[in-house]
Amino acid sequence: MIAALSTCPVQGHKKRLPQVDFEVLFGEAPGELFPECRELIKQYDFSNDILQGTSREQVFLRVLKTLAEDLEVAGTHRKQRWEDGWAENLNEFQCSDYDVTALIPKFVRPQEIIRLHGEYVRPVSPYFEVNVVKILRYWMFQKWFQPIDHIYEFGCGTGHNLVDAASLFPNRPLFGLDWSQSSQKILRLLNEKHGLNVVGRNFNMLEPDQTFALRPRSGVFTVGAMEQLGYQYHGFVNYLLSQGPSICVHVETLYELYDQQHLFDYVAAKYLEKRNYLRGLLETLRILEREGRIHILATLRTFGSLYHDGYSMVIWKPLKENR
Ligand SMILES: C[S@@+](CC[C@H](N)C(=O)[O-])C[C@H]1O[C@@H](n2cnc3c(N)ncnc32)[C@H](O)[C@@H]1O
Repeated sequence: MIAALSTCPVQGHKKRLPQVDFEVLFGEAPGELFPECRELIKQYDFSNDILQGTSREQVFLRVLKTLAEDLEVAGTHRKQRWEDGWAENLNEFQCSDYDVTALIPKFVRPQEIIRLHGEYVRPVSPYFEVNVVKILRYWMFQKWFQPIDHIYEFGCGTGHNLVDAASLFPNRPLFGLDWSQSSQKILRLLNEKHGLNVVGRNFNMLEPDQTFALRPRSGVFTVGAMEQLGYQYHGFVNYLLSQGPSICVHVETLYELYDQQHLFDYVAAKYLEKRNYLRGLLETLRILEREGRIHILATLRTFGSLYHDGYSMVIWKPLKENR
């Protein structure tokens, strides 16, 4: 389980010290967070209550009741769902005069319980998840993509992750791949209306187009996209191996990181099983590392929304790199 953090009671709440929290989340030494991350942390309210006693039990009960229901499973049959969801964001983006906040996916639910440091917590701010993810993105890009010439997000959805990549690296070519046409329409508008150096392209991670070549010194990332592949991630991993990017960062739920001896992790692992979410990726990467084909640079367990830790990270690189 993850180490507990320092807490300081304020008016009956247990409040956490933001900067220290983020250093722990990202495995950084004290004081080593990037200045941009420190600035963002100051702007948002990250205070939260750790749920205890009956409140904690009620959350477990809610999660267990959900697990007992028929849940929709991930797979090709859900492609239209993504298309419809991103079409809705596209419409809002156009109606709001291209306000990038309209690109926040609807599955990020404000005011929801969060999984953090082995506890269920109730954030004070309704935008807690969105804001933590923003800092995570800034950290990830600065930590792993500084020396990279071309950045690719697979399963990019509305492209909101790429918007932050563009603000950090304004001139760097960005590519957003997704199997949804609406995603490509949004990316075209991000280019036309905001001048972002971004190109969208249709790409199915279940049947990777081997003719789509990554440029030299590329960085690849996914956020909650491999999650949708269940056990069918091998073709995509093989595609990445054949392309030899300089870095791959997956911000994904990682089944192998759940310690199922603990109820808190057991329910998350069961949720992945029920929804046919990503399972086995970390094990596959470890095998590839033992075979001398890749190097795993880090695995991190950060935080999650109510049912699972969707923002864990594995960072790796193929040993045969396209330079
Ligand atoms: C949970 S959303 C994440 C979107 C985006 N990365 C984000 O952080 O908001 C999952 C994304 O993966 C895409 N996706 C799911 N299966 C895919 C596949 N087989 N090929 C390409 N994209 C896929 C969906 O269209 C959707 O955009």
